[in-house]
This record gives sequence, C-alpha cells and structure tokens, in this order.
Amino acid sequence: MSSSFVFEGVASIMVDDGAAANLGAVLSERYAKTRTMLVTDKGITSLGLADAAISSLNKSGFETIVFDDVAADPAETIILTATKLAINENVGLIVGFGGGSSMDVAKLVAILAKGEQALADMYGVGKVRSSRLPLVLIPTTAGTGSEVTPISVVTTGKHTKMGVSDRALFADMALIDATLTAGLPRHVTAATGIDAMVHAIEAFTSRIKKNLISDTLAKRALVMLGSNIVQACEKPDDMDARRAMLTGAMLAGQAFANAPVGAVHALAYPLGGRFHIPHGHSNSLVLPHVLRFNASSAAPMYAELAETVGLAGSTDTQLTDAFIKWLEDLTEATGIERRLRDMTITQDDLPMLATDAMDQSRLLINNPVDVDETDALKIYQESW
Ligand SMILES: NC(=O)c1ccc[n+]([C@@H]2O[C@H](COP(=O)([O-])OP(=O)(O)OC[C@H]3O[C@@H](n4cnc5c(N)ncnc54)[C@H](O)[C@@H]3O)[C@@H](O)[C@H]2O)c1
Ligand SMILES: [Fe+2]
Repeated sequence: MSSSFVFEGVASIMVDDGAAANLGAVLSERYAKTRTMLVTDKGITSLGLADAAISSLNKSGFETIVFDDVAADPAETIILTATKLAINENVGLIVGFGGGSSMDVAKLVAILAKGEQALADMYGVGKVRSSRLPLVLIPTTAGTGSEVTPISVVTTGKHTKMGVSDRALFADMALIDATLTAGLPRHVTAATGIDAMVHAIEAFTSRIKKNLISDTLAKRALVMLGSNIVQACEKPDDMDARRAMLTGAMLAGQAFANAPVGAVHALAYPLGGRFHIPHGHSNSLVLPHVLRFNASSAAPMYAELAETVGLAGSTDTQLTDAFIKWLEDLTEATGIERRLRDMTITQDDLPMLATDAMDQSRLLINNPVDVDETDALKIYQESW
C-alpha cells in the first residue's frame, strides 16, 4: 500500500430515512428552481416508489419530467433517448433514482445533455472533457454504490459492456434513504448485497490504488453488510438492517471508486453479457473460486478481513479458508443459486466465457494475482 494517494468522492452525502419524500425541500437549499428530469425504470414507477419525491419536487418549484425507460444493464440507445428528452425539455438538473442501471444512465445524461462531447469518445478512464448538469443520485438498491462512484457501465454490444470512468461522473449529491429499499425483493436484496460485499473485498485487495481511506471504508462496509444481509433477506422491513445495507453499500462504493475492483468483477461481466444474470448474482457465482485462486498472494489480506468480521484462525491460510466459508455460508443463507450449472450454463460454454473475461483488462490489472485465459477457465470450471 502506497503512503501517498489521492482520494476523491461525492461532496455531499445525506443519510436520512424518509428524506426522498422531501426532495424538493432538500434541493431548494442547494439549487435555483429549474426544470428537472428524474431518471428511473418502470419497476420503480410501477411501485410508485418515486411518487413522493416527484410531487415534492413539483411542489417546491422544480418542475419535473420523468424518464422511466431505463432497463437493467442499460444500452447506449436508452442513454441517447434520455439525453434527447433532456435537451428538448431544456432541463437544468438530473436526478437518478433507482438501482445502478438508473443511476448510471443519469450520470451520462447529465454530461451528454450539455452537447459538448459524444458518448463514443468517453469510454475508458479519464476521457470526459465536457461539463455537466447538476446531478443528484438516490439509490433504491443496496449494491452498486453507483451513487458515490465516478463510473457508468453501458451495454455496448450484444454481449459486451463498456465503462466510462471519470471524476466528472461523481454526483453533486447522494441521498441515502433506506425506506426506499424496504420493498426490495429477496433475490435482489441478496444479489445486490453480495455485489456490495465484493466491492469491499476487491477494493481491499486492489493491486494498484489501495490506500488507507479505501481500506478503512472497505472494512467497515464489510462488517455492516456481512452482519445484516441475511436479516435484510429474512425481515425485509427491518429498517436497521436496510439502513446498514444501504450505508454499507455506499461505503464500499467509495472504497472501490478509489481502489478499483478486480477478477471477481472481470469474470462476472461475461456471465451478465452472455446469460443475462444480474450483476450482483454473477459476482456471487464466481466469488469464492476467485478468492481461492487469489489466496496464493492475497491470503494475508483475506486473513485481515476474516479477523475484521470476527472469524478465528491461527494462520493466514486458516483465516482465508474461514473467510471464504463465511462468504459461502452467507450466500447460501440468502437462498440464491450458487453454481453456474444452476443457471442453464453448460460446461461447453465455459471456454467462451474465459475468452470474454480477457476483454476486462481494465479490471484484471487491479487483481492481486495475474489471471490468464487458462486461469479464468479453471475458475469457471470450479464455479460450475
Ligand atoms: N456505476 C457503478 O459504479 C456500478 C457498479 C456496479 C454495477 N454497476 C451497474 O449497475 C447495474 C446493476 O444495478 P442494480 O444491481 O442496482 O440493479 P438495477 O438497477 O438493474 O435494478 C434491478 C431491478 O430491481 C428493481 N428495483 C430497484 N430498486 C427497487 C426497490 N427498492 N424495490 C423493488 N424493486 C426495485 C428495478 O426496477 C430493476 O427491475 C448494472 O448495469 C451494473 O453493470 C454500476
Ligand atoms: Fe459490482
């Protein structure tokens, strides 16, 4: 770990149960009244989850239009359609309201609505040169941490995703309101919660940018997420558990925004791309197997995390084994499928996945151990 580092993030983070219903008042303290676009998906609008926020905005003079055509793993066309609407409606403020998909779309719309740079020129790291509209993000899943990351993940082809990663994508404000997550279905709670745990683990073992602040956030996040994920699944309206999950996911998001994720995510993306397995679930399917592979060099770090979450052992190897078992037990307790073979994936599909994983060099360079195509295939075989 380097003693010199830069840590960046969202300037204003509000954690307040019920605050989304007073969004108009919250934003009145920060922004001049302007036309506002709320970016979300039909799952959210059909549940009426954003209704109170929208009427609060309108009441406070932020005349609000709603774009609710975001789909999971959003494609470029969705972003471009939303941008056209934002420009035609002359909006001055973007609110992303939903899971990672809605927030990721909102981030790019806030930039593209300025009309200064094409999306195609933004993929990669540090490529954004455009200014952007004011941007407020409100998560309704406790997982991606997108509300505090400078990343937007876009589906660019039939089986491929690309990322825009640039500090211009750090929102102006993140609003963490756990009441919005009370109705999350069990499988979404489980999958997104494990995604957040993976963010903490991979930030802590990140090869290049791991630092004192990201380590501190990752450890605290892992304790909060690990001790509440099963309760949030079993008792969906336990607000203490929901708040711990949402806040923990936000802390893990800040950690990996500065110390990026590695091979778990790199091997998860092809599962999403080829088999449309939700992001968090695809992470959980490969998680224990990547950790076993990484243990050759990362065992001391896994041992530290094991002790942080209260596990015992007298050697790094014992603690690493206990840590991996703890993760497997938690995943099992949430009830989501744990093997690739449970997901209509055949053994014949595995080489194609291993080839696809090699396209994720942006992530693989952060992994504590080098992963080549043969290693990736072995990990997929063990996950099968
Ligand atoms: N920007 C980042 O830093 C980052 C990090 C990780 C993943 N991602 C991306 O985020 C996306 C995944 O996001 P996600 O896992 O949050 O899922 P999501 O946004 O795709 O939402 C999944 C489903 O959950 C529903 N939903 C959301 N909140 C709900 C609630 N409170 N109650 C009931 N239903 C609700 C949605 O309607 C949707 O159908 C992927 O595209 C992934 O690549 C981004
Ligand atoms: Fe993730």
